[in-house]
Amino acid sequence: MKLVILIAILLISKHSWAYDNPDPVIRENRNAEIPYLENPEGRPYVVSHRGACGTLPDHSTAAYATAYFDGTDFDEPDLQVTKDGVLFVMHNLCMKETTNIADLPQFDDRRSDVLHITNETTFKCTDDYIVNDFTWQELIDAGLKVRNRYKSRNHFYDDLYPPMRLENAIELMLELNEKSPKQGRKFKTGLYIETKAVRFYKEKRNVDIAKILYDTLEKYDLHTVEKATEKLPIFIESFEQDSLLYFKSKTDLPTVQLMTSSIEYDLDWISSYSNGVGPKHTYMFNQEGEDFNLDKPSKFVERCHELDMKVHPYVLQDDILVYSEDPIDEVKIWEAKGVDGYFTEFPQSTLNTLLYTKSQRELTLIKE
Ligand SMILES: *[C@@H]1O[C@H](CO)[C@@H](O)[C@H](O)[C@H]1NC(C)=O
Repeated sequence: MKLVILIAILLISKHSWAYDNPDPVIRENRNAEIPYLENPEGRPYVVSHRGACGTLPDHSTAAYATAYFDGTDFDEPDLQVTKDGVLFVMHNLCMKETTNIADLPQFDDRRSDVLHITNETTFKCTDDYIVNDFTWQELIDAGLKVRNRYKSRNHFYDDLYPPMRLENAIELMLELNEKSPKQGRKFKTGLYIETKAVRFYKEKRNVDIAKILYDTLEKYDLHTVEKATEKLPIFIESFEQDSLLYFKSKTDLPTVQLMTSSIEYDLDWISSYSNGVGPKHTYMFNQEGEDFNLDKPSKFVERCHELDMKVHPYVLQDDILVYSEDPIDEVKIWEAKGVDGYFTEFPQSTLNTLLYTKSQRELTLIKE
């Protein structure tokens, strides 16, 4: 009798957790089967934020290939759009921080300002070079090259590599997967793609970055889970909800809602269109409801799991530690929170630690 009541309670509460999206297409795409949603290797996913940018220039081919050979599960391109509609792989709306553009005298009179604040994002460029004011070809012809964004990191490889457009990143990954396949991995190394400044582009520049991304994926036949699973696993992430709703109205590719620490989010609603969340790490430690500790599972993560969402927090930086004094401990502390994946700028050390903790777990099981 007690068991029956317990099951009934579980069923009722399970039902109350799930929030069904009112749009039937979004609902169906949200609940589609995604074989690579969870890492089958028995450890959290490693997502290389801007490639292996801890050691190489952000979003350079070198950073992506290095992350690949370090064993990353995904490389993570951010998308901007040029004046002629090319998806430009770069984090910022403007180029001074991560390129050599200020050294190209022909562009001296092309500097300007942008301040775009919405309820989800803030973008600020001051006396800078806005990606969308330039065509792709003029940047390449002028010799634009990428740089590492942190002064404290190594700059040996700055100003060597041109930026990538999304097509370059896709083709690079397809080629690496084909020519240097990883042994013993169920899935190929994928791309975890972020649409940036979606509303800025839509409202101020009249371009729909999410639509261009969808069309590009379609061009490469990567626009559904079924196609992506075999060729190149794809995640779509954004701080901007509209862009994820757009994707879920078009395709069953997995979506991840990025979360900053300064906004109130409705997790039930997010779970109606998103397969996961990408929270700032503070959500697992000291945002509301968490009692700060370094070794117990996080209530936030548990809540997301109840809502059938994966949790991929950002971002691990071995040279900017937050919760410990050792990069290995930092990885272990996040893992104890129960996360399903990590955004990291040092994929090699993150993966090595995760493989080590996994082998320790397996050893314990054998001993028992
Ligand atoms: C921000 O505003 C947009 C447009 O009004 C809305 O769709 C979205 O839900 C809002 N985001 C948050 C986090 O409240």
